[in-house]
Amino acid sequence: MHRAVLSTTGLFVPPHTISNDELVASFNTWADTWNAEHAEGIAAGEITAKTHSNSAFIEKASGIQSRYVMDKEGILDPAIMAPRLAERSNDELSIMAEMGVAAATQALERAGRSVDDVDAVICAASNMQRAYPAVSIEIQNALGINGFAFDMNVACSSATFGIQTAASLVQTGQARAVLVINPEICSGHLAFTDRDCHFIFGDVATATLIERDTQAPADHWNILGSHLSTIFSNNIRNNFGFLNSAAPEHKDSRDKLFVQEGRKVFKQVIPMVGHVITTHMEKLSLESTDIKRLWLHQANAAMNRLITAHVMGREREDDVSPTVLNEFANTSSAGSIIAFHRHSDDLQSGDIGCICSFGAGYSAGSIFLQRA
Ligand code: COA
Repeated sequence: MHRAVLSTTGLFVPPHTISNDELVASFNTWADTWNAEHAEGIAAGEITAKTHSNSAFIEKASGIQSRYVMDKEGILDPAIMAPRLAERSNDELSIMAEMGVAAATQALERAGRSVDDVDAVICAASNMQRAYPAVSIEIQNALGINGFAFDMNVACSSATFGIQTAASLVQTGQARAVLVINPEICSGHLAFTDRDCHFIFGDVATATLIERDTQAPADHWNILGSHLSTIFSNNIRNNFGFLNSAAPEHKDSRDKLFVQEGRKVFKQVIPMVGHVITTHMEKLSLESTDIKRLWLHQANAAMNRLITAHVMGREREDDVSPTVLNEFANTSSAGSIIAFHRHSDDLQSGDIGCICSFGAGYSAGSIFLQRA
């Protein structure tokens, strides 16, 4: 068996930002237009009028102030309310692959690594832009990596489940190094006309290089272990799929985009995540005082405060459980990797931290790391 370590991460940040105020202004214009169009039904009490959204609510309920997106115009146009990403020909690099290649290139550069050192690519994300060929194989081809690649989807937990899969491939000698890539175009599955969730997501791509310790850079992170858990729930769901995508009667149904019972998710996922992390700590004989940092999934700032309190026995402090929600919003599987990417350089040799994801499935995964 070889020893697998985490060498570096890379981050691709999309070109456009949308502030809460911009998003709310477009939503409210759309709502006013919709109400005017349905004025008769509303007056007759047959239809409920759309209520305005509000920036102060969004920030207070979630901690989100802004988000990056691949297309701003379509999302903010009250006549469209969705990203408009032009379809590309089969000869062009697809948009998910392009984002993934950018994040992977940065991870390789930061590790001082060439593509010749990498044997496998895993593209792990909540949404794949097509059924096949796998986006990961397109990324592998674009980077010029010999070996193999495959896609996987565990929703918001895709990165941690991908890292554990990559570590197993390295440990068993099937690959010397594996790139785990998380391109998330969350704006593509978000209902921008639904006030309860129109503010939740942003777009981004992250990459993580997992490799044999013998070829890793000196300041890598040892992987102390991983703990993965899934419990079926319908409380976060998206029914879009190949069996309904072509049927015109299904195309615009609300359930073919992200739908959630936010309150239930909030209440049910916190204990699940607390249990995953504390069980994992027991397995590794770690006390809360041994942990310098929690790089948590970024869905809701209050949720992360409560999880941190559960694990650390004290309220969240920014230096223990950093947030990137304010800048990025929820970026699904990439969120905990962005938190790690932005807030790990200051940890010293021997320091221990935990990357923890959670989300649809339900799914949760923890990866304990120790700086070499
Ligand atoms: N602007 C203004 N008010 C809004 C609003 C908006 N955009 N959206 C909802 N509200 C209102 C609601 O109508 C409700 O009003 P009422 O009390 O008069 O009924 C009130 O604000 C509270 O709404 P609620 O949906 O209960 O808010 P919340 O405090 O639960 O926060 C979430 C909503 C989604 C931010 C929160 O539930 C959450 O983050 N849950 C976890 C989500 C998660 O982790 N999902 C995983 C995704 S991968």
